[in-house]
Amino acid sequence: MVKVETDHALAFDSLTVQGVPARKNEYGAIMPPIFLSTTYRFKDIDHQGAYEYIRTQNPTRQKAENLVARLEGAKHAYGFTSGMAALSTIFELLAPGDHVISSSNIYGGTYRYFIDFFQKKQISCQFQTDLNQLSDSDFEPNTKIVFLETPANPTLRVIDIAHVAELAHAHGALLVVDNTFMTSYLQKPLSLGADVVAYSATKFYGGHADLSAGFIVCNNDSLAEKFAFYQNTLGATLSPFDSYTLIRGTKTMALRLDRQQENLKYLRETLDKHPAVARVLYPGWYSSTEAAIQQKQANGLGACLSFEVEPEVDLGVFFDALQMIDLAVSLGGVESLVCQPKTMTHEPYPDEALAKIGVTDRLVRFVVGIENKTDLIWDMTQALDKARQ
Ligand SMILES: Cc1ncc(COP(=O)(O)O)c(C=O)c1O
Repeated sequence: MVKVETDHALAFDSLTVQGVPARKNEYGAIMPPIFLSTTYRFKDIDHQGAYEYIRTQNPTRQKAENLVARLEGAKHAYGFTSGMAALSTIFELLAPGDHVISSSNIYGGTYRYFIDFFQKKQISCQFQTDLNQLSDSDFEPNTKIVFLETPANPTLRVIDIAHVAELAHAHGALLVVDNTFMTSYLQKPLSLGADVVAYSATKFYGGHADLSAGFIVCNNDSLAEKFAFYQNTLGATLSPFDSYTLIRGTKTMALRLDRQQENLKYLRETLDKHPAVARVLYPGWYSSTEAAIQQKQANGLGACLSFEVEPEVDLGVFFDALQMIDLAVSLGGVESLVCQPKTMTHEPYPDEALAKIGVTDRLVRFVVGIENKTDLIWDMTQALDKARQ
């Protein structure tokens, strides 16, 4: 609960709607204006106004950043053109010779960044299959960042954020969490001890598969100062129009996620029972320990599950047979999507690394939208039936 100029602290779902208050804008417009001006008048040669130049700061972007910070219950948020722009900006904190510990199950694009760019920058990276087993001996004197996504994509394995934060801090390292799959509605990593949270806001914040955006969120003032400097210097700042789209999309984030989580429950039951499906992966599937961690640190399971089909199932036939659900990468829009992570989102991984985290070519990722559950169950069932014949 975050207090935003009301006599009582607004709940999260109210805040998604009212987090950019109309009463703060000059015309009382319910939707905030988009400030397109790239440059702003100085008061005089010695005094600039609140804004100077679009890359440095912009009133619409500032509203979007304030909104994302409020939803997280955080002090600072910075908006970028994509999730990768936000993530790569965070890793500007590192210098040659530094060491990073990362969960081995992360978004394929982040993995590609670690492999290619860390090598160029002489930063070493140690991938860990299960960060719940992280211990003192995994740290080097030069370990500066521990990085994780939980639940992991696409295996939906769960990592104990508080446990990893405690160890990272004991060794003078920062914990960075990519919270794209949960959003601040379902999980707040800063409150669990993380130092920095990253988002691909292209997903649930935008919510309609029509926006590319990313955010860095943190509480620490000196980290925030660095991120503001990197943001302005590197220049991948969120545009005014995209900032507006973000504000509009975020208004329904809680509502959408409520419906998506409800839909996912029914789809999970359907898939669990279908003879074409060998197993269904969702946060907590792996062990009762991970289920308990998810329950402790998050307010739900999110809108994504994966399933592995039986060996006799032809996935090409399955994808072709779907009549409503589309075959596409990404997630967090209102439309339900399926993809094959091995070839579509995790292709930067070598086969051995994928095998280690349990991603096979029989694994399908399903991200649920807000369609009627009856139609989703029908489409999934009829396509699986055909793929089994
Ligand atoms: C977990 C996660 N983090 C980061 C990204 C990168 O975000 P973007 O595509 O907005 O650059 C993605 C993209 O799919 C993702 O799934």
